Amino acid sequence: MSARTEGINILVLVSGNGSNLQALLDAESAGLLGKGFIVGVISDRPGVYALERARKAGKPTLVEEPRRDLPKDDRRLELSNRILGRAREWQVHYIVLAGFLSILRGPILQEYRGRIINLHPSLLPKYGGPGMYGQRVHEAVLAAGETESGCTVHFVDEGTDTGPIILQRRVPVLAGDTPERLAERIHQEEHIALVEAVQRLVKEHP
Ligand code: GAR
Repeated sequence: MSARTEGINILVLVSGNGSNLQALLDAESAGLLGKGFIVGVISDRPGVYALERARKAGKPTLVEEPRRDLPKDDRRLELSNRILGRAREWQVHYIVLAGFLSILRGPILQEYRGRIINLHPSLLPKYGGPGMYGQRVHEAVLAAGETESGCTVHFVDEGTDTGPIILQRRVPVLAGDTPERLAERIHQEEHIALVEAVQRLVKEHP
């Protein structure tokens, strides 16, 4: 597994279905990422469909699971350091969290400051933070009677869902929405938002 030396190397981290990874893979193969090149995909859990998507696209994949025997903070740091090691190995310029549910901590956040982005399925700062991920976000939005929701792409910092916002896309909450229907509407926007954010990073790369 060797990184390309001419392109802008992107590492994608995933935990699940990987529809946002797919949007990036499709954009890359359509030539829409410019010099951006997905060098590899890492999942923090085995057997997820995102890994299958990556393999089908011919991308190197790795599973880096959190060590359940460690206490929470150590577990996060140990996994983050392993991912940092891979990022260095693959000469990664940017790290994209595309539905990645582990929390990054420690040196990776300094070494990759301004170069790690996360996708979140709400209009941050609303409905972010510890425990707010996936369907839980949409359930909370519906329970609060919000009239709109959306997605946010932001830089990752030491907090959870707190880093500077790159872009947001909005959707209406419709009468009779279920968390699943709202999630589906937001997913469509996420695919556009994530590709656009990566395009910006590539374009603005020094
Ligand atoms: C996306 O909706 C993303 O915003 C969310 O996980 C989903 C992954 O979908 N991320 C978070 O909740 C992070 N806090 P995908 O696997 O189909 O790309």
